[in-house]
Amino acid sequence: MKYFKVWFIIFSAVFALNSFAQSILEGGDDKYTPRVGQEGKDVVWVPTTNELLAIMLQTAKVTSNDLVYDLGSGDGRIAIAAAKNFGARAVGIEFNPEMAKLAQRNVDRSGVSDRVKIINGDIFVEDFSKATVVTMYLLPELNLALRPTILKMKPGTRVTSHAFNMGDWDADIEIDSPAKAYYWVVPAQVAGEWVITGMEPGRAVLKLSQHYQKVGGTLQLGNESQALLNPRLDGTILSFTYLDRHKSSHFVKMAVNNNEIKGIHKSRSYNDTAITGKRL
Ligand SMILES: C[S@@+](CC[C@H](N)C(=O)[O-])C[C@H]1O[C@@H](n2cnc3c(N)ncnc32)[C@H](O)[C@@H]1O
Repeated sequence: MKYFKVWFIIFSAVFALNSFAQSILEGGDDKYTPRVGQEGKDVVWVPTTNELLAIMLQTAKVTSNDLVYDLGSGDGRIAIAAAKNFGARAVGIEFNPEMAKLAQRNVDRSGVSDRVKIINGDIFVEDFSKATVVTMYLLPELNLALRPTILKMKPGTRVTSHAFNMGDWDADIEIDSPAKAYYWVVPAQVAGEWVITGMEPGRAVLKLSQHYQKVGGTLQLGNESQALLNPRLDGTILSFTYLDRHKSSHFVKMAVNNNEIKGIHKSRSYNDTAITGKRL
């Protein structure tokens, strides 16, 4: 843990010098002035620059329909920006009581108290399952500790992390400038066998394997089985291409909802058709 804290400070010094200067100007008020690198429960405080947090929120395509949770919210800047610049509702969870009070004052001063709440609590205790977007600037080990909870969130939930990845859950998007950040969409659980109707005369069976958002598998049409071409899973949306017996290609795009899938089937020779499927 100590090693990670030291490493975090070095990392931040190299990649977030800008945030140091910014925080001196913006981080505190007459009641409380936090210090960059000050101890936190599980991770020190280093603020995300306004430039990077805007890119993180843009990458997550935050809108007024979203509920953004910033885990370890520091002075509240990400939650405030989500509300002020993207129209979202936002919640910041911050363990340090002085920091949480400062964040609440920053919220009030920014005129977004109707849409932003700061909770003085622990990210490993508070419930953030209602979030549609999760933002974090924590540590590699904390991201890994949160990963099972995040993967159980509603498929399609967007997640963005400043500096640190999620181990073997590869990011959907990597942000490289002005600093490193990552973006993921929580994938639906699609592994297993599905019987599809509406695709071809007869029975179609889709067999899917899954490693986070990476999917592969086969489609069985009658007695013939083939590997899926270009299979993709983006949250709840599963798509792939297959070839019929005349070698013409067909495109399938479906929304996954627990044990049911619904979507469309497109090909050059036929009109689009609606398809449905059930998990076997
Ligand atoms: C690196 S700072 C990031 C602040 C803010 N999210 C940002 O990007 O500007 C991490 C913050 O997490 C807080 N923190 C540490 N452990 C925490 C925990 N278990 N629960 C809630 N907050 C925590 C620290 O006090 C610090 O303010």
